[in-house]
Parts: sequence; C-alpha cells; structure tokens
Amino acid sequence: MYVHVKSTPVPIPPSGQYSPKRLHHNGRLKLQQFGPIVRQKLPGNTNLLYLFDPEDIEAMYAKEGRYPSRRSHLALQKYRLDRPHMFSTGGILPTNGKHWWELRRRAQKSMNKVSAVASRLPQVDEVCKEFAELISKVRREGSGRVGHFLDLQKRLFLELTITSLLEVRLGKLDDHSDEAEQLAHAVDETNCVVLPTDNGLQLWKYVRTPMYRRLVSAQDTIYRIAFKYVETKDDELRHARQKKKAEGESEPDTKHVTSILESFFESGLEDKDIVGLVSDTLMGGIDTGAYTMAYVLYSLANNQDKQDLLALEARRLLDASDGKVTTKVLSEARYLKAVMKETYRLHPISIGVGRVIQEDTVIRGFRIPKETVVVTQNQVISRLPEHFPDPQRFLPERWLHKAPPAHPFVVLPFGHGPRSCIGRRMAEQNLQTIILQVGSCSSVRMAKYILTERKHMVSRCG
Ligand code: HEM
Repeated sequence: MYVHVKSTPVPIPPSGQYSPKRLHHNGRLKLQQFGPIVRQKLPGNTNLLYLFDPEDIEAMYAKEGRYPSRRSHLALQKYRLDRPHMFSTGGILPTNGKHWWELRRRAQKSMNKVSAVASRLPQVDEVCKEFAELISKVRREGSGRVGHFLDLQKRLFLELTITSLLEVRLGKLDDHSDEAEQLAHAVDETNCVVLPTDNGLQLWKYVRTPMYRRLVSAQDTIYRIAFKYVETKDDELRHARQKKKAEGESEPDTKHVTSILESFFESGLEDKDIVGLVSDTLMGGIDTGAYTMAYVLYSLANNQDKQDLLALEARRLLDASDGKVTTKVLSEARYLKAVMKETYRLHPISIGVGRVIQEDTVIRGFRIPKETVVVTQNQVISRLPEHFPDPQRFLPERWLHKAPPAHPFVVLPFGHGPRSCIGRRMAEQNLQTIILQVGSCSSVRMAKYILTERKHMVSRCG
C-alpha cells in the first residue's frame, strides 16, 4: 500500500497506525504526515485521493457534472442486478450515470417536496412523544439510567422512517415485533458488509463469500418487507381511483397533499424501482438518524449549560403549541438548529463524500486522472483551528450569527450538489422533532458521559 504525495510514492510505515476501524484517526494522520492532498493505492489498482482543503473540495464539486458518480455499495448492486425479476436497476446508491439520474430525478420530486414530508409531521411527533415517555418509563431504579439506549434509538428511527415513508406503524416502540427486529438486524448486517465488500479484494464478484452471503440474507429480508408495503399501497391507491371513478370524479384533486410513497407512484416510477427505493430508504434512514441523535444527546450531556438553553427553547415553543411539534415550531427553533449544526461539525456520521472523477482534472496543481476515487475529509477539517476557533468545544452559538462561521465546504454532513443526501428533509424533520420532544421533557436529563476510543458509539460489526 502506498501513499503518493506530490507525485512521489511514499510507503505507509508498517507500524499498524492505520486501522480500517478508525477512519477519523487515519484521516488526521494522513493530513499531518503528508499534507492537504494524499493519494493512496488500494488493491485492484484503485486510486484513492483524500482532500483536506475546502477550496480543493469546492473545485472537485465544480467538476462533478450532471451525473456525479460514486463508487459504493458494489455488492448490493450485484445482488440486485442478478435479480431482474425483483429490481430494474442496482438502486440509487450504487448506480451511476444516466440510469442514476432517471431514478433520482423522479425520487427527489417526492422526497424533497416540502408538503409531502411535512404531511407526516403529526405522526412523526406522536412517535417522538412515545419515545420520550418510554425512556422515562424504562429508567433503571436507583441510577435513573436507560440501558441499551442506542438500540432504542435505532428502533425509534426505524419507526420514524417507516412512518414518514410508508405511512404505517410497525408497532409500539417497546413492542418487539418480529418485523421490526428482522428489519433492524437486516439493516445492521447490510451496513456492516458495505465497506469491506467495497474496499477489499472483491472475491464476492466470483464466489459467494461469507460476507456476500450475509448481504444476500439481509437484502432478502429487506426486499420481502419493502415489497409487502409497496404492494399494499399500490392496491390501496388502485381501489381509491376505482372508487372515485365509480362516483364520477374523473379529475384528480390537485389540492390533495400526496405523501412521499404516493408521489413515488405518481412520478412514473415502476413498482420494481419503488421497492428498490423503499429498501434504500430503510437502509439510509435508520443508523444515520440514530447515530446523529446519539451525538446530539452526547454533546448536550457534556455541556449542561447548552442543554439548559435547548430545554428553555423547547419548553417555550411546545407550551405555546399544546405540546405538539408543528412546522411553525420547527421554523422558530433557532437554538435547536444551531445545536444540530454544531453536532454535524464535531460528529458527522460520514467522514466526507466520495466521488469518481469524470474527466481529467487539475486540483492544487496536480493532474488527477479520470476514474480516480476522491474522498473529501470533512470530518477531519471541521475540527481544525484554521476553520473554527477553539474547535474541540461544542459551541452552538457559532451558528447564530448571520455570516457563516467558516468556508461553506468545510462542514457538509449531507454532501453537496445533485448527488447529496436525498433523505435530508425527512432526516432533519425527524431529528429536530425528537430532540425537541426529549429536550422539553422535565423528567429527562442527559448526564455527563465521556466517550473514549474504546467506548465509541459506532456499530461493531462481527
Ligand atoms: C442525519 C441523517 C443523514 C445524514 C447525515 C445523511 C448523509 C448522507 C450523505 C453524506 C450522503 C452522500 C451525499 C453525497 O454523495 O454527496 C447521503 C446520500 C444518501 N442518503 Fe442520506 N443521510 C441521512 C439520512 C438519510 C435518510 C433519512 C435517508 C432516506 C430516507 C437517506 C437516504 C440517502 C440516499 C438514498 C442517498 C444516496 C443518494 C444518491 O446517491 O443520489 N439519508 N446521505
């Protein structure tokens, strides 16, 4: 394995300093040792280029073109392309080029539609209130602590994703339904195999390796459940149309607010595409939400003064709205949004964004050949003092001024441009609602808790 700096191959010292499980640490080391642009060769002749300067990241984005390309979820793509009776594409995550855009353009019409996402806010709020009540109920006697909190958060975001997208409830949060457990396990399994199958030797392309078999089993489960809900919704919509026709109402009601799933059907997507999108959404919505929430609560736990300020805002807004989180409440929750942004800066759940360069490009005076895989290092640079004074401190107040506190390409939790996170609107609504509901709860307090490298919050994959 070699790292190239300024075109000179420099072998990484064989001291075990780089670990596939400590990507943030690897990124920091590379910046310190080799500077703001680093090339690493992976097995299989793939070049990885790490960018640490926001100007260079901006330059990369400026060249990403109409169909920004990413190299990820390759084994998932194989799973789907091998099953044309179930899927018409590899899905939005791994597909590139025009085929990606055909899927994305239709899907984002629904997922980015303000009214479609907001139409689910009352149900999302109900789930969040239930969660706040549940954690008060399940506290251990004596210590008042809640055990297995991350699992509870994953269960919450599974329910929130299903509620936001499929308009159904899997069940109460403390009811361990088979379907909820199977889905949560299948999503965990998929997330565990993505990185090793993308970056390893890729034997799975030729033989069914144990990793690939885990993916197949997990994806079979996700497909089965997604298919069931899509089929049910399809039937429901067909019956509604037939009923309207029978009643003589031929024109569609244009004032009717359609939900995300409903607008998937209206957008001309095939049923197979919709099942694929629902599966991708289940995979995209659970761990991302649960870990972000965990980091928000962790940051508040260790900054009691900020926790108090958030609680004050949450109680003031919820007292005026009968305890309900509404679109008005969300639009007025200024401190909450600053808390979220500061958490994305200190604890983004993604180290940065990956792109495959589409044409030969010059960055920082170096010619970067077409097909190079670039990984931006936002997680590392958003903690550098040249971008944020006192960078290790959790200071939501940085974000309350009119002017942005740093270069706009330093903190990019949802990516940027046409290939940025398609679920951002839904994710932000879900996260803001749960933080307001938990933050306003007078019986809940986040107690000081320090994470160490050993006690980290990232899933340990078996
Ligand atoms: C805090 C929550 C979330 C964070 C921080 C997050 C972050 C990201 C990031 C960094 C990307 C890559 C963007 C890029 O390449 O420019 C991404 C892509 C994506 N996200 Fe999210 N995400 C979150 C929640 C969600 C949710 C709730 C969903 C689904 C409902 C979702 C679905 C997706 C999908 C399908 C893509 C691929 C889009 C494409 O390739 O066109 N994400 N997300």
